[in-house]
Amino acid sequence: MNYKIRNGKVLKSGAEKLSVVPEDLYVIEGKVYEHVPEGAEGAIEEVDAGGHLIMPGLINLHTHAYMTLLRNYADDVDFDEWLFRRVMPVEDSLPQEGAYWTTLLACMEMIRTGTTCFNDMHMFKGQSAKAAAQAGMRAFIGRGLVGEDLYGDGLSRFRDALEEQEEWGGNGLLEFVLAPHAVYSCSPKLYGQVAEEAAKRHMLKHTHVSESDNEVRNCLGQYGKTPVELLRDAGFLDDRTILAHCVKMQGDDIQIIADAACSVVTNPASNAKLGNGFAPLSSLSASGVRLTLGTDGTSSNNTLNLFREMNLVSLIHKGIAGDSTALPSDSVIRMVTENPAAAVGMQGRLGVISDGANADLVFIDLNEPSLFPNNNIVSSLCYSANGSEVDSVMIDGKFVMRRRQFLTIDAERVRYEVRSLADRYLSL
Ligand code: NI
Repeated sequence: MNYKIRNGKVLKSGAEKLSVVPEDLYVIEGKVYEHVPEGAEGAIEEVDAGGHLIMPGLINLHTHAYMTLLRNYADDVDFDEWLFRRVMPVEDSLPQEGAYWTTLLACMEMIRTGTTCFNDMHMFKGQSAKAAAQAGMRAFIGRGLVGEDLYGDGLSRFRDALEEQEEWGGNGLLEFVLAPHAVYSCSPKLYGQVAEEAAKRHMLKHTHVSESDNEVRNCLGQYGKTPVELLRDAGFLDDRTILAHCVKMQGDDIQIIADAACSVVTNPASNAKLGNGFAPLSSLSASGVRLTLGTDGTSSNNTLNLFREMNLVSLIHKGIAGDSTALPSDSVIRMVTENPAAAVGMQGRLGVISDGANADLVFIDLNEPSLFPNNNIVSSLCYSANGSEVDSVMIDGKFVMRRRQFLTIDAERVRYEVRSLADRYLSL
């Protein structure tokens, strides 16, 4: 379906500052335009945007979507209790198809709060892809890899990664990523092997790094290097590498990341909840590192709501820096739009509303009391919005939610299935 969307206010990203401009948009074959492109065919349905703000869909660059089952299942406990006695036993017992339903629940929450694209590290072959395809979401999907040797103890997971790419790669909205878990679960050799495979296969790379003091201490003890140095020496760091966390930066870590042109995903709620602190965003940014935002999984965060994350990241870093001008709303909005688009090599095609970009659009009701009286729409997205103002969501030119009704997901069925899984697999 092609659309003319009138009566909307469009969030435009210029080189200087984000701005809001009242203008009509055309959505033709999944792409957005200011005017109908020459040669366009087919009927055009008119949509009244009702004065809503139309902004690019938000991009969550680090999550584990299947973990919705564990929401509020292990709060206020120490890390060992959290991981070894709560999270891992459930992950080990959950059947494959269970992760389909829990990921679909994640898709519901993301769509409901304006996220149209996510970068997922998962444990259940093919289930993220199946759920994202059902939801009509754009996703970057990586089977979590672990082990000493990619072709030895790491082989079965690597095969899973390649097989799910084989099975689902034809879906135009899904891209597959190689995602070794972390330096405490993967050897330097495995990181090197993954880097070679990723280069050969033109795949992005995604990993956790320097999340906690323990991780850095153990890495220094075992290898005499920080986790970032280890990844550099393994040949893992380049402009196709997405690094989640980067909280505990030491020595030359920040310069190494900047020199390699990696993208960093900060996850402020997760880092705070697990008591790990906060990534040094001011220093990373000053060194020219591209900053993006993620929620992490719902067990270490509890929500997949990027509006909450935008609010948190800005307030936390103003507080830490003792500077009310640190991380302004304009920069924060770019952390969930243009910056992650560049991180995945889709500059100009994703995270922006401009001629020929993918029509991943979020409609925000500016009449909601939380945003009214619209004195500064751009800053309200960072400081006032809570995600409930999202009225409609379009991905690749198709509405997946309209007037808060899901169009691709049977919400009642998802709730029934996930409730059944929780009854069966969680024991408090
Ligand atoms: Ni994570």
